[in-house]
Amino acid sequence: MQDVVRTCLGWLSVSCLLVFSTALPVPSAEEIVPAAGTSSNSDAAKRGYVWLTKTPLLPPDFDDEVFESVWTVWPQPLRDQARKATPAERRKLAFERYGLVESPDHPGTGPALGYVDAGEGRWVMNCLACHSGTVAGETVLGVPNSLFAMQTLTEEIRLVKLQKGKALAHLDLGSLHIPLGQTNGTTNAVIFGVALGARRDRDINFVLTGNVPPLLHHDCDAPPFWNVRRKKTIYADGFAAKGHRPLLQFVMVPENSGERIRGWEEGAKDLLAWIESLRPPKYPGPVNAELATHGKVVFDQNCARCHGTYGDGSEFPNKIISIEEIGTDRARFDSLRKEYREFMANGWFGHYGEKIDQYRVDTPGYAAPPLDGIWASAPYFHNGSVPTLADVLDSGERPVVWKRSATGFDHARVGLEVERMDAVPATVTLPADRRGYFDTQKPGKSFQGHTYPDALSDAQRRAVLEYLKTL
Ligand code: HEC
Ligand code: HEC
Repeated sequence: MQDVVRTCLGWLSVSCLLVFSTALPVPSAEEIVPAAGTSSNSDAAKRGYVWLTKTPLLPPDFDDEVFESVWTVWPQPLRDQARKATPAERRKLAFERYGLVESPDHPGTGPALGYVDAGEGRWVMNCLACHSGTVAGETVLGVPNSLFAMQTLTEEIRLVKLQKGKALAHLDLGSLHIPLGQTNGTTNAVIFGVALGARRDRDINFVLTGNVPPLLHHDCDAPPFWNVRRKKTIYADGFAAKGHRPLLQFVMVPENSGERIRGWEEGAKDLLAWIESLRPPKYPGPVNAELATHGKVVFDQNCARCHGTYGDGSEFPNKIISIEEIGTDRARFDSLRKEYREFMANGWFGHYGEKIDQYRVDTPGYAAPPLDGIWASAPYFHNGSVPTLADVLDSGERPVVWKRSATGFDHARVGLEVERMDAVPATVTLPADRRGYFDTQKPGKSFQGHTYPDALSDAQRRAVLEYLKTL
């Protein structure tokens, strides 16, 4: 394993960002705690959850010893606070600093949710690091992890390893070449896939001749998993036909032969079944039913043509709106070139063009997502630039810079509890601290666009906000 890790140099380290390196035996479905938030009991979904949470999908990121020492590189006064704390309190401080969530299967011990236990105290990142988190302090499977501080965690882990003379791993090296995420809760994950795909042929066999295209780094907010079941195509620009194969695009590292990756097909099928079995959490606060009923009428007249309908006989139109019309930040749109979409559509991922009708090699803009459980998946838009639904509904209200509280939920505006400001305070100088501020003036982070709700009256807006709580 260490050898694999050490070979991850130069651009290869980029490829080592996400790798299924060893497949441990998968326990039977009975051994797992049923996933909270799932409504389907299908065997495939259960197997998918086991596959995901028990199989090390990547080389180890670090071990317990390194994680337990990470406080030693923290800035003051946090470091002193950690020094005086018990190991359990220190673990809590570290989880808070990096946006890690305790696993419901073994809270307080072992790897966080989002990491697989690879034995010998080793932590291996999996999909849930970005795709599960907390809402108003409660753990929710499939919700984007809006607190994940991937860049800060990686930088501080690397420092500890260097101090201890430990071998660096894939992310420690990869992050020297590719930014992982400049604002906590969002990541440059789309670009990881582009960099990995550049070295694969259409059968996803590794090739030395491929050229890594120019990379337009930008951070995205992961979409909630529970909406995948309503979509025909996935990702912000809706380019890829929904299927199990695209889920494996992050495993295209040189160490994984095409044959090996193709061999994971059954696991990926089960994983998709689990993703599609997820349902959104219910809004926990009070709802004014009369106002929400009025809001439904306004919504159906103004929003449903793009976002679909909800409740009995609901329909979802799977629309993609041109980039000029939607007007939200275009870095994500510009970052994925036609060549990459063609590679996905015409090769193994797209069943060699068999699904070509569903792939959109020339996608015009961004997909209008389903709004199920929308109350829970703040911040909003594909780049996570807008902290509350009230701000989505009134483009003039959106904060230029915002900083969220640790776990607070704003029930009035529906979304993250934030401090609003015009600029990141000059006193905030450490990069780790700056990542706690969402600065919409930075490239790829604009809050512009999607001005449709501006046409509503204040009363209509209030009603739609109430209705959105019920989806
Ligand atoms: C480092 C964070 C990160 C990790 C790890 C990660 N994802 Fe994602 N995922 C994202 C982001 C960001 C997006 C949004 C990309 C876009 O829309 O273009 C995304 C999008 C998706 C989507 C599309 C959902 C939709 O509604 O369109 C699926 C499905 C998905 N990821 C599955 C997975 C699976 C399965 C894994 C594990 C093998 C995984 N992801 C690992 C960050 C991550
Ligand atoms: C012409 C199509 C269209 C109309 C009409 C429209 N939207 Fe949207 N909406 C979109 C698209 C496309 C996005 C994704 C934008 C992005 O992520 O950059 C979006 C995003 C959103 C989001 C954020 C979703 C998320 O997961 O982050 C919300 C909330 C939303 N719309 C609510 C509404 C409401 C409420 C209305 C009606 C008042 C409305 N929209 C009207 C196309 C539309």
